[in-house]
Amino acid sequence: MKRGKFIVFEGIDGSGKTTHAALLKKRLEEMGERVFMTAEPSEGEAGKLLRRCLKREIELSEEAIAGLFMTDRLDHIKNPTDGILSHLEKGETVLCDRYYFSSFAYNGSYAPLDWVKAINALPRALLRPDLTLFMDIPPESFLSRIEKRSEKERYEKLEVLKRVRENYFAAFEAFPDEKVTVIDNTAPLDLAAENVYLAVKPLFEAR
Ligand code: TYD
Repeated sequence: MKRGKFIVFEGIDGSGKTTHAALLKKRLEEMGERVFMTAEPSEGEAGKLLRRCLKREIELSEEAIAGLFMTDRLDHIKNPTDGILSHLEKGETVLCDRYYFSSFAYNGSYAPLDWVKAINALPRALLRPDLTLFMDIPPESFLSRIEKRSEKERYEKLEVLKRVRENYFAAFEAFPDEKVTVIDNTAPLDLAAENVYLAVKPLFEAR
């Protein structure tokens, strides 16, 4: 049995990762591929704890949060019942909404970036994506979704998203051996979906 392909979607908040992952799943299934969709934070125990942190129900240090994202990732990769590797080994294509580049882009702003990179060498040694798709939108376009917030909050959110987007591009440069394709997601939905498909197609032709 040939191992399946591991494809990751990345992007700032509201960049359309989830929509495009679902569209790609449908298209690959029409080609006869078996596809498993997943996301980080995962549905596992560490992922549940992370969601509580993100909702501010519990408070952890930024280092502990970055460490927990890494721990969640290790479990997401290796969990014996539903881990990514178990699906890849069955020949399934795995589409994952966020992976270690999210840690570099988000957590690297709050905990030291070199340290975030160092701890993520563990999951990176276990499983690298066959392709990372970065769904690119201008941070300003996210703001229309939060019109009701105050000017101050909108400004702060914009500054954060700009920094996250810059961090992504810096991380792509810092890891030139990673396969990354940037998709312009300001394009109409059909066109962006076609560009996603064209980017992943060579992975399936080689088999
Ligand atoms: P997600 O559920 O993808 O939110 P959205 O669909 O709104 O993009 O991600 C939740 C948050 O977790 C998001 O703000 C990014 C953050 N995150 C990290 O800070 N580090 C990580 O390693 C991952 C995977 C996510």
